[in-house]
Amino acid sequence: MSIAIITGASSGIGSEFVKQLKNYAFDVDEIWAVARREKLLEELKSKTDIPLRAVALDLTKTESINALEEMLKNEGKEVGVLINCAGYGKFGNYEDIENAEALGMIDLNCRALVGVTNVVIPFMKRDSKILQVCSISSFQPLPLMAVYAASKVFVLNYSRALSVELKPRGITVTALCPGWVDTPFFATATKTKNPKAVTKYTFMQTTERVATQGLKAMKKGRMVSIIGGQNKILYVLNKILPVKIVMNTWLKTQK
Ligand SMILES: NC(=O)c1ccc[n+]([C@@H]2O[C@H](COP(=O)([O-])OP(=O)(O)OC[C@H]3O[C@@H](n4cnc5c(N)ncnc54)[C@H](OP(=O)(O)O)[C@@H]3O)[C@@H](O)[C@H]2O)c1
Repeated sequence: MSIAIITGASSGIGSEFVKQLKNYAFDVDEIWAVARREKLLEELKSKTDIPLRAVALDLTKTESINALEEMLKNEGKEVGVLINCAGYGKFGNYEDIENAEALGMIDLNCRALVGVTNVVIPFMKRDSKILQVCSISSFQPLPLMAVYAASKVFVLNYSRALSVELKPRGITVTALCPGWVDTPFFATATKTKNPKAVTKYTFMQTTERVATQGLKAMKKGRMVSIIGGQNKILYVLNKILPVKIVMNTWLKTQK
């Protein structure tokens, strides 16, 4: 038996992964739930039959990544499942978003995701699974969400390439691409100088649906999983339409 590590577990999609993990018969006997808000992580213990350890870490700090690595070394645990779900976005243009927040998105969505993945892989065995929470924003440049969307492009391409690198070891990597999901993401995203920059959230999805599809896709070892028919159509349109048209259409939907 081995452990599952779930980052961003204190809220939204991450906490739903914790709740649903038991339904998919992964070979894990403990969940390490990672985020900054320890109290919320502790509360998750009553939401799953799998023993859960609250691991309070700010993943934007290098020492937190090192601490996670030390914990794994000291415990000598194997990791059967890694779900990188910690992440945030900010709405607005380049001057609406504080530079610290713009850099923070890159630190958490990209740097921390790579850092956690790198320290966990040595503790994985054959048939271990990695799920990287990405977004359909990874399929197109998004004015008013420029840094966030670009950070998810990184996650998508990194995850795809890593899945090829890890194939000989029998470890799968899945990039999960939901559209809008009803979570506290929006409370964070709208705390900018222009809270009304992005206000139309079409085809909002539930955390339950997103977590279910994510866990199923990870179980099957899919490389990329796009959630919802409308998002699959968006994916195809983004592939065939000129990028200027794609960006202008997005901006029109927000007026
Ligand atoms: N909601 C959407 O519309 C949507 C759509 C596509 C993709 N996504 C992606 O889904 C993932 C989860 O987002 P969500 O919608 O569930 O939002 P959420 O409810 O705000 O969850 C974000 C999670 O990230 C954690 N986190 C934030 N900063 C952190 C830090 N410095 N160190 C460690 N953990 C940190 C938060 O925990 P603490 O605050 O306790 O640290 C929380 O658990 C993100 O990667 C997001 O980009 C969301």
